[in-house]
Amino acid sequence: MASHFIVLTLTLTTILFLAPSAFSQSAPAPGPAGPINLTDILVKGGQYTLLLRLLNETQVLIQLNNQLNNSNQGMTLLAPTDNAFNNLPAGTLNNLNNENKVKLALLHVLPKYYSMEDFTTVSNPVQTQAGGNKGSLGLNFTAGPGNQVNVSSGVVETRISNPLRQQFPFAVYSIDKVLLFASEAPAPESSSTKPDGKAAKAPSSPAADGGDSPSTNGGGRTMDLGVGLVGSIVMFCMAIL
Ligand SMILES: *[C@@H]1O[C@H](CO)[C@@H](O)[C@H](O)[C@H]1NC(C)=O
Ligand SMILES: *[C@@H]1O[C@H](CO)[C@@H](O)[C@H](O)[C@H]1NC(C)=O
Ligand SMILES: *[C@@H]1O[C@H](CO)[C@@H](O)[C@H](O)[C@H]1NC(C)=O
Ligand SMILES: *[C@@H]1O[C@H](CO)[C@@H](O)[C@H](O)[C@H]1NC(C)=O
Ligand SMILES: *[C@@H]1O[C@H](CO)[C@@H](O)[C@H](O)[C@H]1NC(C)=O
Repeated sequence: MASHFIVLTLTLTTILFLAPSAFSQSAPAPGPAGPINLTDILVKGGQYTLLLRLLNETQVLIQLNNQLNNSNQGMTLLAPTDNAFNNLPAGTLNNLNNENKVKLALLHVLPKYYSMEDFTTVSNPVQTQAGGNKGSLGLNFTAGPGNQVNVSSGVVETRISNPLRQQFPFAVYSIDKVLLFASEAPAPESSSTKPDGKAAKAPSSPAADGGDSPSTNGGGRTMDLGVGLVGSIVMFCMAIL
């Protein structure tokens, strides 16, 4: 326990010291040996309990770990904080069926490693893992003054803030808002093609909630998220029409 705490403290200290230079330099140090532990990165980040729960519940976590191990392009995760999830309109997550929950999770995953600097020159829209055979659910990245980079799903725009990790093959950036998508209203499927979300068949077991997090237990908080997405989507669609 104590050593765990020390490691955590050292890690945080290291991050604090390295973060500023990480923005200007591309690759800091050689990566640690062995497989990258996504759960560990998010747990140590300290404010990604709800993201972890979503990734775990949708089994996207397993998918990502496998992919990370097998990809030579690397991968990037945009990690909404607990605050981001808590600020969603009530019921947002709860109103998504499992397939759309998977899609929501995958919208935050880019099947390629991007440094912060890469984002300033990337050509939009950037493909996410959420794109099924219907075409892409892409994200737009725009560089602002300084080294600021914003990401937009078309519905939600937010600033990309500190990297939890920025080292090939895996980058994780914290974001203050959950990126919502517009094209998939939680309506019954009328189109002929089924999205190919491989993890979509995941049995949704309520017991899967909670898990590692000591602070929040049970599915209570997840249950509280939900309802507003429909509204956002409707409003977004009306804005388009
Ligand atoms: C990954 O990290 C988590 C949290 O630190 C830990 O519980 C888990 O055992 C680790 N998994 C592997 C494969 O090392
Ligand atoms: C990663 O992939 C290698 C082969 O490419 C395999 O031997 C290894 O067991 C995999 N590790 C994990 C954690 O999946
Ligand atoms: C980035 O997004 C924030 C809102 O999160 C907004 O205030 C800011 O103007 C945006 N910056 C750019 C360069 O678009
Ligand atoms: C990205 O930008 C393009 C061009 O400005 C626009 O047509 C598209 O709708 C935007 N997509 C998102 C997800 O914001
Ligand atoms: C993920 O779910 C499993 C059960 O499916 C549970 O044992 C595990 O603790 C959960 N992990 C996290 C990080 O929530």
